[in-house]
Amino acid sequence: MKRTLFVIAMFGAAPVWADGNENLASAVANPHWKTECSACHIAYPPSLLPERSWRKLMSGLVKHFGQDASLDGPTAQEITAFLVNNSADRAPNKRAKKVMGSLGPNEVPLRITETAWFVRKHDEISASVWQRPKVGSPANCAACHAGAERGDYAEHRVRIPH
Ligand code: HEC
Ligand code: HEC
Repeated sequence: MKRTLFVIAMFGAAPVWADGNENLASAVANPHWKTECSACHIAYPPSLLPERSWRKLMSGLVKHFGQDASLDGPTAQEITAFLVNNSADRAPNKRAKKVMGSLGPNEVPLRITETAWFVRKHDEISASVWQRPKVGSPANCAACHAGAERGDYAEHRVRIPH
């Protein structure tokens, strides 16, 4: 009982910024971002792309990876501000710094999965694994990171589906 309470106290509410297992959930989540940007996939952590990428992505929602993800002006502005404030340029976590370090100064990736950081972190995964029906796409984070929706990408909780 004591142990359970201890675990809840440690991992229950606040993001843990410790090295290695740091949670990628932003300190204060934005409700519109949560609902609008998790309608078709998980709400990707803002800290895995730079400000310039989020601005470009948010200004092209009408043609968003082959889908129309457009929003009304005020909602789009609010979500953009949230993404920018928690982007890789600004987020106080080490992974964000590694993402920035992996990008060239003029690179504006629209995908997390295209950043050199992501590719390096996932280089042990073979092409056939990405193509498994339960994975389907590198963008399907939750296939292997069950806690992705909560910003939990801890290495020891990764499970690759068969
Ligand atoms: C209508 C459905 C839809 C909505 C709503 C939507 N997306 Fe997407 N998004 C997609 C599709 C489809 C892809 C491509 C997924 C793939 O390649 O497997 C994608 C991919 C992405 C990627 C790239 C993932 C990668 O490969 O790293 C990002 C980043 C992204 N979306 C952000 C957002 C944000 C931010 C919002 C909210 C403003 C949003 N999406 C809302 C459909 C949607
Ligand atoms: C096919 C399974 C799979 C998918 C899909 C996947 N990952 Fe991973 N991911 C892994 C594995 C395996 C590792 C552990 C690599 C290692 O041991 O160093 C990892 C590592 C990570 C790490 C580093 C964890 C750490 O502690 O340093 C992050 C962050 C991460 N992934 C984010 C993502 C995001 C974001 C997505 C979706 C855009 C994604 N992953 C999609 C399998 C996957």
